[in-house]
Amino acid sequence: MADFSNQVTFITGAGSGIGRATALAFAQAGAQVVVADVNETNGQQTVAEILQLGREARFIACDVANPDDVEKAVKYTIEQFGRLDIGINNAGIGGKYARLVDQTFDDWNRMLAVNLSGVFYCMQSEIRQMLVQGGGKIVNLSSIAGVRGLVKAAPYTAAKHGVIGLTKTAALEYVRHNIRVNAVCPVYTHSAMVDELINSSPDMENRLRRAIPIGRFGQPEEIAQAILWLCSDENAFCTGQAIQMDGGLTAG
Ligand SMILES: NC(=O)c1ccc[n+]([C@@H]2O[C@H](COP(=O)([O-])OP(=O)(O)OC[C@H]3O[C@@H](n4cnc5c(N)ncnc54)[C@H](O)[C@@H]3O)[C@@H](O)[C@H]2O)c1
Repeated sequence: MADFSNQVTFITGAGSGIGRATALAFAQAGAQVVVADVNETNGQQTVAEILQLGREARFIACDVANPDDVEKAVKYTIEQFGRLDIGINNAGIGGKYARLVDQTFDDWNRMLAVNLSGVFYCMQSEIRQMLVQGGGKIVNLSSIAGVRGLVKAAPYTAAKHGVIGLTKTAALEYVRHNIRVNAVCPVYTHSAMVDELINSSPDMENRLRRAIPIGRFGQPEEIAQAILWLCSDENAFCTGQAIQMDGGLTAG
């Protein structure tokens, strides 16, 4: 396992699912973790689980769709731990499962505000600090919906494609500043977001599972390990990539 001792890690949406699993994995690997989430109860629960591991963590309430919140959350991270080594821009929403003509302007605007603008705001604040420090690592959560179309998810798909564009461009702009920026693209992974989709119709789970060559959904811990690998110093040559964590889906 890579060693992240004393590396300060800021993770949005770390109150649940992939974000929580990633926060715990970084803490287990020695990192100090700041959990940023709109859901205070869940965010504090992640902090409590990290403290039980004997590691350091803080919670900060943050709506990633609000640039002031994001700036304050990154500032809080510096105040608490003195620096920012790793930014994991994971907070996201699933949005309405409906065809394009049935998505309202509000559905569209909220989706882009959280899943795309949120990543932009986070990267701005994180990279400003990393430039001062002389380096850092960033991983953005895209999706298989960032590399292919997904029926009944046009706003989500647009936002996740956008996240990959932001990732590649930031990687190129800051590679000579010792800042690496990558994305992960999970297929359906067990989490609150996916449970909501599964529960929307009786055969949904089987239908989704059948489409995945490996024959099952991902686990948040599996996505977390890919994120840690992307951030590890042993992986110093990797930047600007969107890594598919999809049980073979996009290989076909
Ligand atoms: N689970 C999957 O199948 C899957 C697949 C591909 C990509 N993803 C992406 O992974 C990320 C995490 O998803 P998950 O499945 O763990 O979902 P989740 O619903 O379990 O967790 C999302 C977390 O983000 C927080 N959040 C939501 N809106 C926020 C906002 N505006 N500001 C701050 N926090 C906010 C929630 O409170 C929650 O704690 C998302 O970006 C999602 O799009 C998930």
